[in-house]
Amino acid sequence: MNKMYKPEDYRDFAHTGPQTLAGKFLRSFWQPIIKSEELETGRPKRVHILNEYFTAYRGEDGKAYVVQDECPHRLTRLSLGWIEEDGIRCFYHGWKFAGGDGQCTHQPAEPDSYKKAIKIAAYPVREYLGLVFVYFGEGEAPEFPLYPEVDLEKDTVFCSAHPVPCNYYQRIENDLDEVHLHFVHRVSTASIGLDQLPEIQVEESDYGILRRGHRVNSENNVSRTGHIFMPNTMLVFTPGRPGRWAWNLHLAWRVPIDDQTMMSFVVNAHLGEGKGFQKRDRHPNPDPQVYIDKILNCEMRVQDIDPEYPALFQVQDGVALAGQGAMVDRNRERLGQSDRGIILMRKLWSRELQAIAEGRPLKAWKRPKDSLLDLNSREVQLASTRV
Ligand code: FES
Ligand SMILES: [Fe+2]
Repeated sequence: MNKMYKPEDYRDFAHTGPQTLAGKFLRSFWQPIIKSEELETGRPKRVHILNEYFTAYRGEDGKAYVVQDECPHRLTRLSLGWIEEDGIRCFYHGWKFAGGDGQCTHQPAEPDSYKKAIKIAAYPVREYLGLVFVYFGEGEAPEFPLYPEVDLEKDTVFCSAHPVPCNYYQRIENDLDEVHLHFVHRVSTASIGLDQLPEIQVEESDYGILRRGHRVNSENNVSRTGHIFMPNTMLVFTPGRPGRWAWNLHLAWRVPIDDQTMMSFVVNAHLGEGKGFQKRDRHPNPDPQVYIDKILNCEMRVQDIDPEYPALFQVQDGVALAGQGAMVDRNRERLGQSDRGIILMRKLWSRELQAIAEGRPLKAWKRPKDSLLDLNSREVQLASTRV
């Protein structure tokens, strides 16, 4: 066993700095860090993700690049710098890093020979479904996972990113919790007639967890199938809006900002509508955090929000999750049989974290190449039809 880690560390999912087991596990997969549209050429961004700061920028070649934020010279932020071709030049004394590999290529006030010795961290980047993904792990990046369930030819697709005021693992656990739909989101479930609590079934799969929420398969009481892709991605149908779609296909990544806040990166698809990637400028007024703070202060109730408020789901989940505390104490919970998804997720994570601690290989998590959607299922039909 690596002396650095103790057995209790195998169950520490919450801390994600670079030296933590959970941090190493998350970094061994591609992670989204920002929406593509937020990266404009000439305007680098300082991104706080996984308890670290990075500089993300779009080069004049149109490609997205991600490097460490700290300039190695006098440690100011590279995100203050200028974009030149595919590189970035530091704002303070003009050191330039170009070529996509972090190599220093120009130091205006230094002899030409010095730059060879200076290299910063630069990371593999890939843009997909409107998001910028980065591989922060060691060695070669793993194969980039595609999600053929989202079909840009056939579907109408939106992407969004929003902060959640709690530790990311609470949000992951929420993804395995089908029962909460009937309480936290009861306005939405009631409006589409979903009134029967599901019987939860979960199993480990090649890619993570397959979860099913069985309900009597009547008109509205849909049995839901959810796919959890290790370590922090979920694919499931979520209630949509009456007057539009009863259900949406929902693909989401839960990524730590620091240990007390996180980002949800979400791709929503209306199946079969065929408009491809659509920009949706959604700036809910007021900001969801305003509602979350007021509700947590007992100044208002979730029920007081207009059901048409566009970020209603976000507020509902945000309240339940932040209400647990920014970092929940899992030693004091009293889990029940309906929490079996959460129990399985923790077991799988714990197994992987122990493997990292002991220097053993992880399970080779791999999703099938083909779509996991069952086109004959009721939820797929409802997600393809306006109601
Ligand atoms: S601090 Fe960046 S060049 Fe001096
Ligand atoms: Fe929810």
